[in-house]
Amino acid sequence: MTSLADIWPPFAFTLTTPRLTLRPILDADIPAAVSAARSGIHEPGKSPFSTPWAELPDDELAPNMARWYWRCRAGFSREDWTLLMGVWQDDEFLGVQDLGARNFAVLRTVNTGSWLKKAAQGRGVGKEMRAAVVCYAFDYLQAEVAESEAAAWNRQSLGVSLGLGYEPNGLARHTWGTKVEEVQKVRLTPESFKRPDWTLHVQGHEGLKSYLGL
Ligand SMILES: CC(C)(COP(=O)(O)OP(=O)(O)OC[C@H]1O[C@@H](n2cnc3c(N)ncnc32)[C@H](O)[C@@H]1OP(=O)(O)O)[C@@H](O)C(=O)NCCC(=O)NCCS
Repeated sequence: MTSLADIWPPFAFTLTTPRLTLRPILDADIPAAVSAARSGIHEPGKSPFSTPWAELPDDELAPNMARWYWRCRAGFSREDWTLLMGVWQDDEFLGVQDLGARNFAVLRTVNTGSWLKKAAQGRGVGKEMRAAVVCYAFDYLQAEVAESEAAAWNRQSLGVSLGLGYEPNGLARHTWGTKVEEVQKVRLTPESFKRPDWTLHVQGHEGLKSYLGL
């Protein structure tokens, strides 16, 4: 019988690190993602996201998250893709790590975004999950640059970036909710990447690669 992964190859994709499993969020995983977000991601009133989605009231947060996951899947094309991966430690959903690109075949540049529930922050998980997607991008997709950005005050996110060897790549002013925010852009190449001391395990690479037209 045809499986879901036969229909949409990204569903067969999995990255494994010493502590974590990263895999695309299935509909059955959305309740775990919603519970993790509801348990708290950041201080009230200090959103690390340009769209303050994590501050929505409970009855709006859940459908908004589901719509975002469906939108990323539905909008996934070779020219513009975002792979949203749930981050699991054993059976516990910790957060989301995404990897995406526009016109990757030419630009060979990926971007990333992530969040963890508060209870999972500050113990190296953010660094481990970012290292996983960057290793994959450089070593399997032959990316030449990985970009990211965070509010200039976001020490946790910039700590992950700088710890992995990203270099500052300019300040930008972005719309943040209804306000303006200074955003620090950062940039990593295979040469500047401070590689983890573990080996990434990848499943489903060939299917994803051909789906991406690479
Ligand atoms: C950003 C986030 C994913 C980072 O994950 P994390 O697991 O908390 O971070 P880690 O424990 O892996 O820390 C990584 C590095 O940042 C440093 N760091 C973490 N918190 C820090 C802080 N408050 N101040 C300074 N450095 C900090 C750590 O020392 C570590 O550096 P090192 O490995 O060189 O010692 C997580 O904190 C989070 O979800 N925050 C809220 C949402 C968010 O900000 N998302 C990103 C939006 S751009």
